[in-house]
Amino acid sequence: MCGIIGYSGPLEAGSILLGGLSQLEYRGYDSAGIAYFDTSSKVHVVKKTGKVARLKETVEVMKASSHCGMGHTRWATHGGVSDENAHPHRAGRVTLIHNGIIENYHSLTQEFHLESQLISQTDSEVAAWVLESFYSGDPKEAIRKLAERMDGAYGFCIMFDDHPGEIYAIRNVSPLVAAYTPSGALIASDLTALIPYTKRYFVVPEQHIVKLTGYKISVFDLDGARVMPEMLEINWNMDAAMKNGFPHFMLKEIHEQPEAMKNTILPRMTKGLPDFTDDGIPDQLFEDCREIHMIACGTAMHAGMVAKALMEPVLRIPVTVSIASEFRYEDPLVDEGTLVIIISQSGETIDTLAALGLAKSYGAKTLAIVNVKGSTIARESDYVLYTHAGPEIAVASTKAYSVQLAALYMISCRMSLVRGKFTREQAEAFLTGLLDAIPAMETMIERQLEEKHLAAHLIQQHDTFFIGRGLDYAFSLEGALKLKEISYIHADAYAAGELKHGTIALISQDVPVIAIATQEHVFAKMISNVREVKARGAFVILLTKEHVQIDEGLADIHIKIPHLDDRFTVFPIAVILQLIAYYASVGKNLDVDQPRNLAKSVTVE
Ligand code: F6R
Repeated sequence: MCGIIGYSGPLEAGSILLGGLSQLEYRGYDSAGIAYFDTSSKVHVVKKTGKVARLKETVEVMKASSHCGMGHTRWATHGGVSDENAHPHRAGRVTLIHNGIIENYHSLTQEFHLESQLISQTDSEVAAWVLESFYSGDPKEAIRKLAERMDGAYGFCIMFDDHPGEIYAIRNVSPLVAAYTPSGALIASDLTALIPYTKRYFVVPEQHIVKLTGYKISVFDLDGARVMPEMLEINWNMDAAMKNGFPHFMLKEIHEQPEAMKNTILPRMTKGLPDFTDDGIPDQLFEDCREIHMIACGTAMHAGMVAKALMEPVLRIPVTVSIASEFRYEDPLVDEGTLVIIISQSGETIDTLAALGLAKSYGAKTLAIVNVKGSTIARESDYVLYTHAGPEIAVASTKAYSVQLAALYMISCRMSLVRGKFTREQAEAFLTGLLDAIPAMETMIERQLEEKHLAAHLIQQHDTFFIGRGLDYAFSLEGALKLKEISYIHADAYAAGELKHGTIALISQDVPVIAIATQEHVFAKMISNVREVKARGAFVILLTKEHVQIDEGLADIHIKIPHLDDRFTVFPIAVILQLIAYYASVGKNLDVDQPRNLAKSVTVE
């Protein structure tokens, strides 16, 4: 949440900051602002509610020249959406931007007698004033004292009036990455803002102070000693962070799924079997555990639900899926015998991170499935399996979900093999089945006809229901979430047999019911459930494999996926569900990539 960028160097800071904010806008888009030193070293702040484009108009009118500054795009937490609450915040000689939440801001306000000074309702402005009160000309010393007093998550970038050309930063939990590049020194809340300038970067170590000047970046620990951070390589290119002719990032990312699947699966295949040697994940991890516990949020949690339905029947050990925000405050039943699988695209979701910490404290072994290299969750887990989806910019997750599933399917296969639940031949056949799902996804991406037609119907309704059984139920959870978040149509997913225990009361004339029926062993049951809703007037959209015979009039729209083994139908089904949500959002003329109230990385509770 909240995008941060800081720059010091020979180029025009304004265009670098505004360009960076556009790249980071998916992190938050309630308001945006920049602060910069002008050519006579005076600090200026420009901030506005609304999107970065609105800020750009104002900044361009000002035609300011600068070589050092910082910018922020906000996702409101403390305080509503207003110009005052937008960042940067000024406090005496201090200018500060913040990503995160300061939990003790209220007591600090009282302790430092800030009530009459504060212009905004934000916790961030409190941090700025506390810093100002510690400041007596030595930025590092003041920041060190600030860090001692802050409870909560923060990534701060700071300018001091009497230190022109310099940006300081510190982080706790909230991410910051930085790089010294031929264009100057840059710091940002995520890599997408650095990609245009460099391939080499470092993750700012927690509780370390970073100083950017036009010619170097230095990192210090809180005792003031210089630290050399570990340099990492970005394996994305600029194209990956651009729309490349697609009207929206979401559509582009839906199209990228087959490639992302190959990138995630193929490097981990040896002689037709899954192989995690290069990831440093030993078979013993899979052999020793007595149970599996998956922890994640939102779409990533739905990937876990699919994996549970896939794994439990084969492995014959308990597989539990927990919502991270619940798990972190529980007294969970995990111990040394539990393999905890943490799933997160960003690797920074605060609840998932806290859940990881709790699981570790109970002695569980932790394996993270993460897309963003070097992210906090990736670094703090015992083992990490990176998915290779490339940057996901649209707020609604698509390709990250597919590759999370691909990774989980591979883990399931390896685990079944090493625990003697699969013969070598069965494991090979499983992996072949997984690979066969890729052309099936391609087919669904190319077709897209029914989804457009269907979306036209959906957008006229207030509710939509998704039903399925077994694996199909697990897929439908994600379909409902996708539709809700970008089309704002209420959607709910139900195990098809559960509908008649209450929810069927909501089915009336023309209410859309998206029925997923790809699982052979419950197919007949599913069709009975479809008949029940049809009998009550529902508008039925039926998703099945091709070559399936259904009675005339049972479905209003029948979408068929290529024939696949039941275990792999999620992949083409996911494409259909994503496209349905996408076209519903487009049909309602909504902001597909940046839906209201949401942000890409949820780094606050
Ligand atoms: C929905 C979506 C979210 C995320 C969730 C977890 O489309 O993207 O539900 O899946 O916020 O995020 P990560 O995977 O970054 O931990």
